[in-house]
Amino acid sequence: MQVQTVGVIGAGQMGNGIAHVFALAGYDVILSDISPESLEKALDTVGRNLDRQVARDRISLEERNTAMGRIQTTNTLEAMHDADLTIEAATENEEIKREILSALVPHLKQGAYIATNTSSISITRLAASTDRPERFIGLHFMNPVPVMKLVEIIRGIATDEQTYHMAQEVVSKLNKVPANAEDFPAFIVNRVLLPMINEAVYTLYEGVGTVEAIDTAMKLGANHPMGPLQLADFIGLDTCLSIMQVLYEGLADTKYRPCPLLVKYVEAGWLGRKTGRGFYDYSGDTPVPTR
Ligand SMILES: NC(=O)c1ccc[n+]([C@@H]2O[C@H](COP(=O)([O-])OP(=O)(O)OC[C@H]3O[C@@H](n4cnc5c(N)ncnc54)[C@H](O)[C@@H]3O)[C@@H](O)[C@H]2O)c1
Repeated sequence: MQVQTVGVIGAGQMGNGIAHVFALAGYDVILSDISPESLEKALDTVGRNLDRQVARDRISLEERNTAMGRIQTTNTLEAMHDADLTIEAATENEEIKREILSALVPHLKQGAYIATNTSSISITRLAASTDRPERFIGLHFMNPVPVMKLVEIIRGIATDEQTYHMAQEVVSKLNKVPANAEDFPAFIVNRVLLPMINEAVYTLYEGVGTVEAIDTAMKLGANHPMGPLQLADFIGLDTCLSIMQVLYEGLADTKYRPCPLLVKYVEAGWLGRKTGRGFYDYSGDTPVPTR
C-alpha cells in the first residue's frame, strides 16, 4: 500500500512536529487528540514554526500555506479510516498507548500500517494490542521534529519486510536519516541519553552542583549544545521519568533507578517547558534555574 494519508494520534510536542514534517513533504495529515486545547495549540505551533521556515527562506509562503491546508484535526479516531499509516504519538504510558491502539484498529482499513513514536516501550508488546502486529513498527522521531535529522526505526518480532520498507521510504521522503535499532528498552538514543540525564539529576540531588553549574559544565566541558537539565525540561520530565522506569524494569538493573528528585518534580506537576516549570522557571523572558 502506498502511503499518502497519515494519521497522527497525540498532538503534543511530538505530534505537532510529526504533522508538520509530513504535511510539508506532501502527505495529507489527520491529527487527533482527546484534548481540544492540545489540537488548537498544535495548529498554532505548526503555523508559527512554518512561518519561521518562511522567514529563513527555507520554504516559500505558498509551500507553507499548502502544508497548513493538508492538516485536518479531529477529537476522535474514526477519521483514521482514511489513513494509510497511523502514527501513535500520545503520552509515554504503556496503558494509554495500548488503549489507544485497541480503540484504533476497528477504524482502520485493511492493510493500513501502524507506527508508534514511543521513546522506550516495547514495540512487540504494543503491536500485540493490535490486530496486525506484522504491519506495526516503531518510528522514533527526535524533538524538535522539523529540525532533528534522525528517525530510529524499530521492528517488533512480528514486523514484516513490507512494513520495514514502507518505514524506510517514509523516512527518506521526509529527508531524514534512519538508524535501525533492535526492540530493547529505550532503543539506542534514549538508552544512552536518559541515564546521562538521570545522572545529572542525581548530581543536583546530591548537591554536587547547581542547575546552572551542571548545565554549564556539560555545555562547555563536554561540548553538548544543551545542558542535561535544560534538555530534560525540553523533553518533558514525565517522559524522562517514564523512560527511566522502562529501562529500570525492562533491564532489571539498579543502575537505571530514576533519581528521587526527578520523581518529585513529576509528582509536583513540574514537567519542564510544557508546563512552564521544571529545572528552570519559564514564566519570564529568560529561563531562571529553580535550584
Ligand atoms: N518529548 C520528547 O522529546 C520526545 C522525543 C521522542 C519521542 N517522544 C515520544 O512521543 C510521545 C509523545 O510525547 P510528547 O513529548 O509529544 O508528549 P506531550 O505530553 O507533549 O503530548 C502528549 C499528547 O498526547 C495526548 N493524549 C493523551 N492521551 C491521549 C489519548 N488517549 N488519545 C489521544 N491523545 C492523547 C495529550 O492530550 C497530549 O496532547 C511519547 O511516546 C514520547 O515518549 C517524545
